[in-house]
Amino acid sequence: MTTQEMQKNIRETFKQRFGEPGELFASAGRINLIGEHTDYNGGFVFPGAIDKVIMAEIRPNGTDKVRVFSIDINDYAEFGLNEEDAPKASWARYVFGICREIIKRGGTVKGFDAVFAGNVPLGAGLSSSAALESCFAFALNELFNDGKIDKFELARIGQSTEHNYCGVNCGIMDQFASVFGKEGNLMRLDCRSGEYEYFPFRPEGYKLVLVDSRVKHELADSPYNKRRESCERVARKLGHETLRDATMEELEAVKGDISAEDFSRAKFVIEEKDRVLAVCDALERGDYETVGRKMYETHEGLSKDYEVSCEELDFLNDIARETGVAGSRIMGGGFGGCTINLVADDRHDHFVAEAKQRFNEKYGHEPMVYDVVISDGARKVEE
Ligand code: GLA
Repeated sequence: MTTQEMQKNIRETFKQRFGEPGELFASAGRINLIGEHTDYNGGFVFPGAIDKVIMAEIRPNGTDKVRVFSIDINDYAEFGLNEEDAPKASWARYVFGICREIIKRGGTVKGFDAVFAGNVPLGAGLSSSAALESCFAFALNELFNDGKIDKFELARIGQSTEHNYCGVNCGIMDQFASVFGKEGNLMRLDCRSGEYEYFPFRPEGYKLVLVDSRVKHELADSPYNKRRESCERVARKLGHETLRDATMEELEAVKGDISAEDFSRAKFVIEEKDRVLAVCDALERGDYETVGRKMYETHEGLSKDYEVSCEELDFLNDIARETGVAGSRIMGGGFGGCTINLVADDRHDHFVAEAKQRFNEKYGHEPMVYDVVISDGARKVEE
């Protein structure tokens, strides 16, 4: 669905359900060029917002109740604003969590009516949940707090929602990207200091292409949180607050005292944080072949050491190598979702055709392919 069609649908649905129109807000999904699983280790990430959004129409309703309808899930929820009012439906807990986290920080949220929809593909690793959180955090800041909550805090409100209401102990990358995204720019964020820099990203002669495997391996025992625990254990062992400060030499020195699994996890993170910096240098030189090579290294590490890839994504990575794609890797948290590919213009069509055909032959469905358009993050939608 195009963003235009979605907007029309939201307007019509809001009118039918709640009457008087509200205001429209949107926030974006994200990509990450490099720097995976580094955010909660105090390292660097390199994300950007994309042209796929969650959009919501919202109007204060003068009560102490929130009434919200999700067009995509075709479900309605109504809840109060106290801790004990938490809704059961997991999609509604994102909205509830945002309200609660604003209130916990001394901000104001009163009752409102909302209808929302999105075109960020679900389960693709493009962070539709951060888009939803950032859309509501931004909107409630405008509607009830005169825009006084600063943007970084809006991102933290989204992150705390994941921690406290959705069971995912995530880092700050997704919400940061969704709130701060700027058209045509990637951002390098230092997740320890919170310092960030915009990097114009218009590679001459290359495209960024997402290949979405449309598989999602839900692992019962919350593997994301387990990865984070491994990293924290090793950091403690080394006497550091996070792995940001750890070196390979230090890690080698404790190899005999930690599990082989924890060793591999920490090795990946230590290598990955240097890769982000190497990619920044390469980008400044316009050296996209080096950027691409680092992306392959990241994939290798995520697959073998961090073990968050899966057969389907490794297969897509192999196809990228075989068709001469400059760089390719699994993107986001892992266990399914998509690969991000840096593809020279003259290889693009061949790669996409091969990926679709060979994946379909092997897994019985075609992957979805999207050209990445780097766009704005959280905003009020002006009509
Ligand atoms: C998920 C999390 C992020 C980050 C990535 C991996 O998207 O929400 O905080 O850790 O995984 O880089």
